[in-house]
Amino acid sequence: MSEHLLVVEDLEVQYEVRTPDGRQVARAVDGVNLHVDRGETLALVGESGSGKTSTANAVMRLVEPTGGRIVFEGRDLVALSGRELRAMRPRFQMIFQDPFESLDPRRTVLDTVIEPLNIHGIGADRAEREALALKALERAGLTPPARIGARYTHQLSGGQRQRVAIASAMILEPALVVADEPVSMLDVSLRAGILTLMAEMRDRLGAGYLFITHDLSLAWMFADRVAVMYLGRIVEEGTSAEVIDSPAHPYTQALVSVIPVPDTGGARERIVLTGESPSPLDIPPGCRFHPRCPLYRELGEPERCRTEDPELLPLLSSGTARRAACHESH
Ligand SMILES: Nc1ncnc2c1ncn2[C@@H]1O[C@H](COP(=O)(O)OP(=O)(O)OP(=O)(O)O)[C@@H](O)[C@H]1O
Ligand SMILES: [Mg+2]
Repeated sequence: MSEHLLVVEDLEVQYEVRTPDGRQVARAVDGVNLHVDRGETLALVGESGSGKTSTANAVMRLVEPTGGRIVFEGRDLVALSGRELRAMRPRFQMIFQDPFESLDPRRTVLDTVIEPLNIHGIGADRAEREALALKALERAGLTPPARIGARYTHQLSGGQRQRVAIASAMILEPALVVADEPVSMLDVSLRAGILTLMAEMRDRLGAGYLFITHDLSLAWMFADRVAVMYLGRIVEEGTSAEVIDSPAHPYTQALVSVIPVPDTGGARERIVLTGESPSPLDIPPGCRFHPRCPLYRELGEPERCRTEDPELLPLLSSGTARRAACHESH
């Protein structure tokens, strides 16, 4: 049995889409491999359209993967029956990007947080569930809990709503939390508070987090490890410090080059990616990044980059669990 809390192997998510040329298949997630350990945060980082949400939704079993395995606490979630999956549900929970959409506006805050207890039959009676919910609200910084609990979710601000969403995910004491851009819709001034809350919850429960963000500097702040996603694949993975201090993959290098450097006030040399923004309807052959890769051009357009799909392999020089999918980085 795997030591890891979550192991994702060769995950694929495809969508059939209608285009002017007829039906086509979008390979949104095209062979993703990653793992999350207990108590740690893995950030999944990438541009819009790289397949982050599709990966998250597949792990949560909200979309059907077209291939691969999702092994959580030693069991393959893809192979479970509906009933077995429901029994596992409290163990893995999701926090969504948009707290305006993810909460029912006609419910009170207290009922919102009690609902997961009702669904999973936790607590002996209404009074016990209410007590658990009030405690969860308090832990989420929603105080006084009785007063906030009586409000309707539509009466709350975005930051408060996200706290309610966090409270109702965490009340089940999950082992895994998948958070899809949990602060990107919130005012910048509220973000640190929400992230601190999420970190406290993680540490209290020893939960593993799959934390999705398009913001590499946020990943660096919040996550232990980072996996960089490009066009449906992980192209680089390592500890946050390693990946950001010395990115190995040319795509990561480009992402890192646009992070402001606060200490010096100066900028790094900015690497501007050229070429068309990629589409999962038409993934380039060979290395999927080669049409936009500065290194490919610098090296005189090696044939291998156009013909061989690079695997995500350990970097020999690192001596750690660092991996990259680039022919030139090994
Ligand atoms: N239901 C769907 N039907 C068809 N195509 C889809 C569907 N959902 C996503 N896609 C496509 O799959 C690709 C990956 O989308 P996804 O939402 O997973 O990316 P993302 O990395 O989360 O992007 P963002 O940063 O914008 O949230 C995109 O090209 C998107 O257009
Ligand atoms: Mg997304």
